Amino acid sequence: MSIGKPLPHDAAHLHVTGAARYVDDIPTPKGTLHLCFGLSDVARGEITSVDLSAVRAAPGVVAVLTADDLPFENDVSPSIHDEPLLAVDEVFYLGQPIFLVVAESHLAARKAARLGQIDIAPLPAILTIDQALEADSRFEGGPVIWSRGDAADALASAPHVIEGQFEMGGQEHFYLEGQAAMALPGEDGEMLVHSSTQHPTEIQHKVAHAIGVPMHGVRVETRRMGGGFGGKESQGNALAVACAVVARQTGRACKMRYDRDDDMMITGKRHDFRISYRAGVDDTGKLLGLEITQAARCGWAQDLSLPVADRAMLHADNAYHLENVEITSHRLKTNTQSATAFRGFGGPQGVLGIERILEHVARERGLDPIAVRQVNFYADGQTTHYGQEIEGFHIPAMTDALLDRADYAKRRAAADSFNAESSVLKKGLAFSPVKFGISFTLTHLNQAGALVHVYQDGSIHLNHGGTEMGQGLFQKVAQVAASVFAVDLSAIKITATDTAKVPNTSATAASSGSDLNGMAVKAACETIRDRISEFLANYWSVAPGDVVFTGGNVQAAGRAPIAFSEAAQMAYQARVSLSSTGFYKTQKITWDRIEGRGRPFLYFALGVALSEVVIDTLTGENRILRTDIIHDTGNSLNPALDIGQVEGAYVQGAGWLTTEELIWDKAGRLRTHAPSTYKIPASSDRPREFNVDLWHEPNQEDTVGRAKAVGEPPFMLGISAWLALADAISACGDGFHDLNAPATAEEVLASVGRVQA
Ligand code: MTE
Ligand code: MOS
Repeated sequence: MSIGKPLPHDAAHLHVTGAARYVDDIPTPKGTLHLCFGLSDVARGEITSVDLSAVRAAPGVVAVLTADDLPFENDVSPSIHDEPLLAVDEVFYLGQPIFLVVAESHLAARKAARLGQIDIAPLPAILTIDQALEADSRFEGGPVIWSRGDAADALASAPHVIEGQFEMGGQEHFYLEGQAAMALPGEDGEMLVHSSTQHPTEIQHKVAHAIGVPMHGVRVETRRMGGGFGGKESQGNALAVACAVVARQTGRACKMRYDRDDDMMITGKRHDFRISYRAGVDDTGKLLGLEITQAARCGWAQDLSLPVADRAMLHADNAYHLENVEITSHRLKTNTQSATAFRGFGGPQGVLGIERILEHVARERGLDPIAVRQVNFYADGQTTHYGQEIEGFHIPAMTDALLDRADYAKRRAAADSFNAESSVLKKGLAFSPVKFGISFTLTHLNQAGALVHVYQDGSIHLNHGGTEMGQGLFQKVAQVAASVFAVDLSAIKITATDTAKVPNTSATAASSGSDLNGMAVKAACETIRDRISEFLANYWSVAPGDVVFTGGNVQAAGRAPIAFSEAAQMAYQARVSLSSTGFYKTQKITWDRIEGRGRPFLYFALGVALSEVVIDTLTGENRILRTDIIHDTGNSLNPALDIGQVEGAYVQGAGWLTTEELIWDKAGRLRTHAPSTYKIPASSDRPREFNVDLWHEPNQEDTVGRAKAVGEPPFMLGISAWLALADAISACGDGFHDLNAPATAEEVLASVGRVQA
């Protein structure tokens, strides 16, 4: 059985040797053209004149396109057709593509793109949450409000009420491979597109509309991405569409990749949020009534902002039972990049909200922050604020195991005595849990397909609708296939995602890649296996159920075992079909997003973390000293890959809340648009000691191998690092830290000042 084995990523040897092929590595045909966008340098305004003569005259330039030159639909939005590929009359953010340069080389295109003379009459830009609220600039008419019980009443009678407000920044995806696409025109209007995308079907759909052909005229292939993190669910549309349009017009292959600065200026990021709250608690810190207001800065176009904001509301409870609660969500339209999916898809913002609230309750009431969490934990049988029943809630047991394994009591005492002695350096320790809902909230997306071929030599060609972005999906799914046939993994060829092999796929997102595609592949493999069984049962005169696949062989009692390859050969000669599709759709889920009621998730993935940090109270500099995590992966399909996901997610989550700061100036220009100014965690920023264990109880739901999804949930464990910084800051005085995110060195220093004041 290869399911459950800690095998390396199937492409690990290619990644580390540089042999893994990304879009930009694909050998290009002779005459390939290279594309680059010319961007708006105004956040909002009317385009009054466009002079592209210098661009056209620049060396190597073949053509320059504006919106007027687009043959069909000028739209790259994944949701409501509000995102033109090239601006029409108006611009809505600084960085918006206005024209498209087509040149003989990437460099020539980039140089020429700077020569456009575009006059824009500026209009007042809405940049901040305050400006958007003031102007009532939003998506979806008014705020979305969900409630359960009576929050106002519970607050009125609560013994203690704690109020506050804080800000959390957005986050740049910083996938190491930037956005990239290549289009190859075929005969009779056909188009092949290679795209670095989490969503090949969406690329196919947008390209088909842009070049005026049915979806069958466009084939999209994605072998792998050098990271996606949600940033390649919709943000790759523009490049693929641009390439396809020009490829259709010129008959030449077209390629486009964003330079890092362009990538950061053009594409959407994680939504930044402001969260305000009123929490009514009893003497133990138990929440009696809660009002939460979430304001999300969505940027200029809708993109995926509505489901992102929904998920923030769905995760406003995290691991805690909220009896009387009202959640208000503002989806604000601003003249900035269109914020998009990013690992956790709004979940992290919702979870950080409630964790901050419990942190505030504990500080204000002088209670132990972990005890406050424990009194609020869900118990099995309770329901969430949207009505889903809690089942298999292991968090209390996981918390006990973690505090024990991490030697919490002793380390807490040690940090306290360190802080009593040390005036400049202070240590902090904090715990945080995560409960993350698994399934797309848009119910119809919870489906997947697969296509499996067994060749007559017993080798197996594996294909499914999921995409590989480093998370190890292909390896896990290959392990599923190998297990069904009981063959060695070397018998299986993992192939690129291809819209011509598996149609109508969902984005690889919501952490559901292995749940969905694993099941679809299992179904396809079982169909072929059962056909072979039936054939051999006949041949051997045994019952089909007595034919067993094991250890690379096929056998039945009283019959000499034959190798799987021989079984395949015999089945082929007996004219048995050795190819099958597979399909899966998630059961049990229902969701009414307007009412905020239902069972949107098949199950929850769980985790707990404890982080220890040290801060320098004179400079605000800080380090993560140690992190202990227990993360629930159900019966892990591959513990090595899962631990990698947990480690990476934690570090990325901690980066969001510490060093990664996006700064827009008053004109709406993103000032942090390169690694020189935008700081993702370096390897030296990982916890000095990092202990990750998996919690191995099988998923109570019938998932592939009884595993749980792992891609996004542990991202939120990074919140424990932010809370640990708050704990260290709290050791500097008696005031409330009022810490915002990201807790950059500057923010930590300011917060130390607030505590001391
Ligand atoms: N891991 C790596 N190495 N690179 C990525 O881009 N994306 C994350 C997560 N882990 C990502 C990653 C996100 S946002 C999601 S939704 C899941 O992987 C998607 O893959 P899965 O559904 O197969 O877990
Ligand atoms: Mo992940 S944000 O769902 O791509």
